[in-house]
Amino acid sequence: MNKLIIQGGKILKGTIKASGSKNSSLPILFSSILADGPLILNNTPHLSDISTTLRLLMDMGAEFILESDGALFVDSSKLTNLVADYDLVKTMRASILTLGPMLAKYGEAKVSLPGGCAIGSRPINLHLQALKELGATIEVKNGYIFAKAKKLVGKNIYFDQVSVTATENIIMAATLAEGTTILYNSAKEPEIYDLSTCLNKMGAKISGIGTSTLTIEGVKHLNGVQYSVCPDRIEVGTYLVAAAITKGSITVNGAKAESMKSILEKLTEAGAEITITNNSIKLDMKGKKPKAVNIDTGTYPNFPTDMQAQFTALNSIADGSCSITENIFENRFMHVPELVRMGADLTLEGNTIVCKGVKSLTGAHLIASDLRASASLVLAGLVAEGETTIDRVYHLDRGYETIEEKLKLLGAQIERVQD
Ligand code: UD1
Repeated sequence: MNKLIIQGGKILKGTIKASGSKNSSLPILFSSILADGPLILNNTPHLSDISTTLRLLMDMGAEFILESDGALFVDSSKLTNLVADYDLVKTMRASILTLGPMLAKYGEAKVSLPGGCAIGSRPINLHLQALKELGATIEVKNGYIFAKAKKLVGKNIYFDQVSVTATENIIMAATLAEGTTILYNSAKEPEIYDLSTCLNKMGAKISGIGTSTLTIEGVKHLNGVQYSVCPDRIEVGTYLVAAAITKGSITVNGAKAESMKSILEKLTEAGAEITITNNSIKLDMKGKKPKAVNIDTGTYPNFPTDMQAQFTALNSIADGSCSITENIFENRFMHVPELVRMGADLTLEGNTIVCKGVKSLTGAHLIASDLRASASLVLAGLVAEGETTIDRVYHLDRGYETIEEKLKLLGAQIERVQD
């Protein structure tokens, strides 16, 4: 198994390029099931979650080619096996996004239940309820969802809770349903904007994109298209925090600031000088230590839960005290005991971390537990005194493309080693 070994204390400086968004690429790749021709996707990141998605699609009968220019050619237009198997689904919860497209295109699907995960129970009731409202019959047995629908029929659907992947699953199902579907209380995340824009390019009729009410007029067919995935706002945010925590100054090219307002506001409040162009974000701490900032996670456009762990690391060594409240996932605190082992002063009270900034952290041997918790340990390792070793790096490889290479480009001392 791979480990990362970090010698802390280097001030990060320089320029890197943002990768394409993981959370846009996954639903867009699954939307290829709906199309009658191939999708050619530019800017998809090289991540293990993308490989898992491609393996899942291949298991179902899809074909893909990684072109020499980096574009991904995916033809899922003629699936032969309408099953998403447990072995792959258990490694990536987003596999549930096969359900809506398979049901809409083929009238049936068998998808493994994803089960719980390190950050919470993560039920899928909203996905199943909305598909039932569109006319599907759904049975859950032997750990699988068996879904059938002679045809899906458009309907007004109100989501009881805002869910990113439930919104995406139902948008995809509704594109090929008969008649009009209106989704109320939809998630508004930029990745949903990206998926909807790609689907419209494929011939779907989705309006209200970017709002919580989406209207989808069903069409008979969708076509294959070429599409470029948006930059990964969480990856960019993580590198900006890496610069802030080390009192550094970096530029991320290819980043889009308009989808990152809540993150950039918090970095500014922490003392960073942020300069934005239409295609880059520069963060400069002017050599100063960050100030503590309160965090309260919420659905877009509020502060993203996917940046909570990284800001916990930042606040651990900031000047002052603060509270970090997690409102989306009930157990997204796996990084807290590990940061405490490095000397952070963090106390968990319900869903709030009470954080008193300490002068410094010390390097330690740590275990990565989930994707963003692992990122926060890397950030802590960058600023800690001495050496930090992080085990189970495969969590990071799900969501950060060549993380050690990008950090090295910025002057970090970080190595990947194999046991
Ligand atoms: C997506 C993102 C993930 C991000 C999360 C919140 C992808 C592939 N993953 O995950 O990175 O952290 O949004 O921004 O895009 N819920 C239910 N029933 C459901 C569905 C969700 O109760 O059927 C609850 C969840 O337990 C959670 C909340 O709704 O408390 C939000 O979860 P959701 O938006 O669905 O997260 P994901 O789509 O799984």
